[in-house]
Amino acid sequence: MTHDPIDRLDEWLRRDFVRINTALEEAYFAERIDVIRGRPDLEALKRQLLQQGGQLMERLADMPALPDHPHASYRLLGLVGHYLAACQRHEAPLSDRDGGRQAAWTISARIGRALGVAPRFVFAHQSLFNEAIAGRYRTFTSLPDEEVFIRYNALGVLAYYRAAEALRGIANIGVSSVVAAYLFDQAEAALCDVLRFNQDLARQLDVERFFFNIRPYFKTYRVGDVDYRGANAGDFSAINEIDITLGVCSMDDPFYRAIVREKFAHVPPDDQQVLRSLDRRPSLAWLFRSECDAHGATPEWTANAESFLAVCRAHGAAYAFHHQRLVKAYVEAPSKTATSAHTAGVTSSGPPLDEVMAMLQRLQRLRTARPDIGF
Ligand code: HEM
Repeated sequence: MTHDPIDRLDEWLRRDFVRINTALEEAYFAERIDVIRGRPDLEALKRQLLQQGGQLMERLADMPALPDHPHASYRLLGLVGHYLAACQRHEAPLSDRDGGRQAAWTISARIGRALGVAPRFVFAHQSLFNEAIAGRYRTFTSLPDEEVFIRYNALGVLAYYRAAEALRGIANIGVSSVVAAYLFDQAEAALCDVLRFNQDLARQLDVERFFFNIRPYFKTYRVGDVDYRGANAGDFSAINEIDITLGVCSMDDPFYRAIVREKFAHVPPDDQQVLRSLDRRPSLAWLFRSECDAHGATPEWTANAESFLAVCRAHGAAYAFHHQRLVKAYVEAPSKTATSAHTAGVTSSGPPLDEVMAMLQRLQRLRTARPDIGF
């Protein structure tokens, strides 16, 4: 057995932590409720969670220094955050005696300050900083639905990054360049992959399992004297980079600007650089308009304009699917009929659900509109 406190925590998260969470989830699911308090057998499991996790937190706090490398530090923030998120999810209150509260808060706050990120577990810790060992990445439970959810979310995020990277190169070679056609095709293919992954997810993920046993791990939790809003799968830069590069959204629009600002502390450090650069980017829609005004619609311009509009359509289709078939089916519909016993209610990231729905609806309108390219 390893003596390194970080490795010990990782091992625990992959074994006993999963066993405890899964047993609790099965009990909640049997009653179709999102948490149960006061039942002796379940309270015993929650005590195990706090006692075992608390000891590991204390051992981390005894380490002479936290990892130097930013990625290793960020990973550790996620490991500690997995534990804090699970305690919050089960309403198992940490104290300094049980749960290593102060140790967990101090480590999280130190890493958060050093990296300039929210000192909590975010979705990237599950999708992008979650190394598989013998084929298994970290999950809260051993429920197949959770594995499916993480897998297709991670694939969707990677496909968004791929589209963003292809589009990033186009401004430098010009929208009438024959070479740009290749990058437009890459971006369109990647966005079609996003749609495909979302469809696969919708086919395989059970609505009740998601609602009762998966989403509750993404709730707001406290570090020190601040409550940090919940994790959500949208906390990565690529989708915003795509919006701004295509020109379907603008940083001059206060609604959109506020969304980018708000997610800043919840994306990984490298993504923050990208979000920072969005203010200075010319949109491809604007480049198409300028070139058409100056030189007319040459055959190269026309061919690329068609490819560009195909990319925009693919982006809109993937996002419309997210809104209509994921958000509505997996969050809005069950929240109307299912019972929540959790004190925090059903949303993950903080605002009331109807506000979140209105915000997402507006984003859907922007992303599905045809941009003006001057022709
Ligand atoms: C069952 C699957 C999913 C559900 C139920 C879901 C639900 C939601 C909800 C309710 C929000 C609003 C923020 C919050 O309160 O949590 C959101 C935001 C977001 N989600 Fe998902 N989501 C799912 C999967 C995905 C996937 C696979 C992706 C893409 C990789 C994705 C991308 C986004 C993005 C980018 C946002 C931020 C808002 C925006 O820019 O549109 N989601 N999602």
